Amino acid sequence: MLSYLRLEEMASIPDNFIDDLIARVELDDLIGRYITLKKTGTRFMGVCPFHGDSNPSLSVTPDKGFLYCFGCQEGGDAITFVRKQENLDFVEAVQFIARLYGIPVPEAASDPHATRRRTLIDINDKSREFFIKVLKSKYGKPFIDYLKSRGFTKETVLAYRVGASFNSWDHLTKHLTKEGFKNQDMVDAGVAISGKDGKSIYDRFRGRLMIPILDTLERTLGFGGRAMGDDEPKYINSPESPIFQKSKVLFGLDLAKSACRDSGQLILMEGYTDVMQAWQAGVQNCCAVMGTALTPEHLPIIARFAGEVIMAFDGDEAGIRATTRSMMAFAGSDLNVKVLPLPSGSDPADIIRTEGAEKFRERAGDAIKGEAWLFRTYGEPVRNSSITDRIKAFEDVAPYLIAYSSHPIYDELQERAAIAFNLNLTALRTAMKNVAQGSRTIGRSEAGRTLEAVIKGGEEIEKVLFLSLIANPKHLPEVKEHIEPEDFDQPLHRRLARVFFQPGFALGTPEGLKRLREINEDEDLYSYVVRLILEHDEEALKGSEARYSEADLKFCLLHMIRRNYEAESKRIQSEIQGAMPDMQSGDTGRVNRAKELISKLGVARQELENDFREISYQLGGEKVSWEEEIHA
Ligand code: GTP
Ligand code: MN
Repeated sequence: MLSYLRLEEMASIPDNFIDDLIARVELDDLIGRYITLKKTGTRFMGVCPFHGDSNPSLSVTPDKGFLYCFGCQEGGDAITFVRKQENLDFVEAVQFIARLYGIPVPEAASDPHATRRRTLIDINDKSREFFIKVLKSKYGKPFIDYLKSRGFTKETVLAYRVGASFNSWDHLTKHLTKEGFKNQDMVDAGVAISGKDGKSIYDRFRGRLMIPILDTLERTLGFGGRAMGDDEPKYINSPESPIFQKSKVLFGLDLAKSACRDSGQLILMEGYTDVMQAWQAGVQNCCAVMGTALTPEHLPIIARFAGEVIMAFDGDEAGIRATTRSMMAFAGSDLNVKVLPLPSGSDPADIIRTEGAEKFRERAGDAIKGEAWLFRTYGEPVRNSSITDRIKAFEDVAPYLIAYSSHPIYDELQERAAIAFNLNLTALRTAMKNVAQGSRTIGRSEAGRTLEAVIKGGEEIEKVLFLSLIANPKHLPEVKEHIEPEDFDQPLHRRLARVFFQPGFALGTPEGLKRLREINEDEDLYSYVVRLILEHDEEALKGSEARYSEADLKFCLLHMIRRNYEAESKRIQSEIQGAMPDMQSGDTGRVNRAKELISKLGVARQELENDFREISYQLGGEKVSWEEEIHA
């Protein structure tokens, strides 16, 4: 059964293929490739790779195609497992499994975008191979000398698949034409440029060292082409295209991902060469942004591999600006961000070269918390200036705070900012309010962006519930019957539900908005509701294709109900686990009492499950798979 979120994600794979794939994969074989499984009855048990266990608490049921861990209470299917184990997104996991079993992944006939992307990636892959051949040929000699002079080893050059382009107008395009690619596709892929006549094309990269940019599946998305010597511009990068978007790409992630996963940290740098030097020196959890700052779109990619980001940007004005803008991208997120400030005029590669990798690691270990860096960088210079100057300086970082307005650390952040900028809390809050209301134009756009980041941070289900309630207000009573405001995870949503669940309140109407204004002074809430309504209206314009249908509403409602049930079930499970020592104590009295307790808890859990099934059935929801056996 495909869930809502999955449908969202699988832009390029036909629906029925995924069901087929799950049906065809022998789950015990797949998981058996990672851990040792022991057969017990119809299921297999093994040591769960996800929570540092030493007991075989992972149960794999191939017939049903699902797995469940009694230790960490994680469950799922083949795709969930591979996503976690290999750190892949949904589509990547599907491709990974298909490749593992030699099953060809069909292109969705209905998705011309996927076919298009495939062609553009093919062109970039072929170009990458071509550039490597050039580097190895006699024309590559000056490039090899250059790489050597910068201290790069052969191993690094091979690992990063560095190549070179001929200093000619048509070597690559001619080669690709022979391979059967069309002019327009080469232009769209970014390796060729249209001539003035509109018909001919020529090579974009000429006489440059070619650094390919790969995604985590090692598909070539684009290139950074470095000039030899002091030619200008220093770098020519692939242009934005359907496959290459600077706001989403991180250079080097393909080689850094496993080190990131092992360390839980990702070190973010500015330059390609910094990442390559670091990797060569053994600091292998590094990536680079593409000559810009980080954006909120990078965050989900990062979060798949590391919970902590250390920004090690160049020690110059531009580096400080890029760090600031990147901090804004993190605003509102739960990722841990630190900043490793470098001495003025040096970049990570310099430090590694002059001080060694060990010293660099030490510096990374001493990195300071992102917000502390932000407040210090902007607050310190004005601490003793006039109040106007202090407020002005604070306003630059205010959007960062605003993004945390519905977050538990909000108060603490404000207090720390107040100290750093030498302002009292009232002045600070007034300044934030002004920025939020857009009295400064820059402030407004930044606040807008950071709000976006907040919303992307995982409250999708709760948000879609509200959106589909706006679209289907007649279902409000049903929703109120099953969930309470306190059931929402996000504080802002909790606040919204408290208002919205009041009798006679119509959220999507002008009257409703007016009333919201009257009964509530919560500015954040108000602007959030406005935003929801706008988003809903925009969707509604799409007519029959619009989302936020009754089905969406039911899905979200069921999801939230399920969340409650699972929490309760978890509680029971932990009570059961609490009784385990008694079970194993060997003391008959204790064992019997524990047995009785466990059996009672088992019944409670069964009832809970029946309850949930009933509700789920009433709501016409999907058949929910729920591990039935209780670990004993
Ligand atoms: P080296 O100077 O060879 O060590 O390269 P670097 O990667 O350290 O370059 P630099 O610190 O100058 O720039 C950091 C990043 O900004 C580069 O990796 C590129 O992504 C980008 N960049 C630098 N110069 C240019 C340029 O002229 N044009 C474009 N489009 N991007 C550039
Ligand atoms: Mn640099």
